[in-house]
Amino acid sequence: MFNVDSLHNKLETNWLGSPFIYHECVNSTNTYVKQLTPKQASHGLVCLADYQTAGRGQYKRSWYSEPGANLTFSMVLKPQVNERLQALCLVTAFTLSEVLEQHVSQCIQIRWPNDLYFMEKKLAGLLVESVFNGNKLDRFIIGIGLNVNQKKFDPSLKDAAISLAQINGKGIFCREQLLADFLMKFEANFTDWEKNDVELIRKVNRKLIGYGKKMYLSLNGEKLPDPCKILGINEKGYLTVLDENMSIITYTYQQVRIEDVA
Ligand code: BTN
Repeated sequence: MFNVDSLHNKLETNWLGSPFIYHECVNSTNTYVKQLTPKQASHGLVCLADYQTAGRGQYKRSWYSEPGANLTFSMVLKPQVNERLQALCLVTAFTLSEVLEQHVSQCIQIRWPNDLYFMEKKLAGLLVESVFNGNKLDRFIIGIGLNVNQKKFDPSLKDAAISLAQINGKGIFCREQLLADFLMKFEANFTDWEKNDVELIRKVNRKLIGYGKKMYLSLNGEKLPDPCKILGINEKGYLTVLDENMSIITYTYQQVRIEDVA
């Protein structure tokens, strides 16, 4: 079981992780924080569950995670700036990749738009949602599913999923330490993101699979015939590419996926 006291002993943040809500079992941490009132859902709230009965992924897929083995949690953010939110998602993925690299001493990359990969296998995914109060954004929710100590995956996922324990092949990871390290680093990166720090965007780009390379893209589910050179994300978090006709094209989050190398 996740040890909340142990997390609190390790966590040195000013606002992120306070309050911290722990559920042994909940439908989905994203759904839970979505249903809170604007007052209850304060900036910095983190909700973690040891087991989600209806964990959700991107594209209306479900997210299954072995009970008590991994990290499944959601953060509530109420940024002062409401632009560049897509970049914030990438900053989150980047922060997680940096922290994980420190723990496993291996290269962890971002697969656009918001998955983390080790080699060809998925290690973590982000589900980002917004809650509006009238027509005003009340909160931005970033849900993270990270495979930590799970040793076996459903046969349908076997070749596609991996955990930290499988990467380093020995022992189990302390989930409380991983989460504390991530929250501390993310709090600092969040401040840099709010200041529109260009260096942060450069760092994200360096972790992006396909950065600077010619890659095939799929647009709204259809693979484009010609490859494009990936120029990286801009300060809004949009993907910019150079196509075969030397035109620079910018894509938003939902539109495009980076497929294989050309
Ligand atoms: C994906 O890769 O499709 C995104 C997966 C996101 C899963 C996390 S687990 C915590 C939070 N609660 C959910 O229901 N989903 C996210």
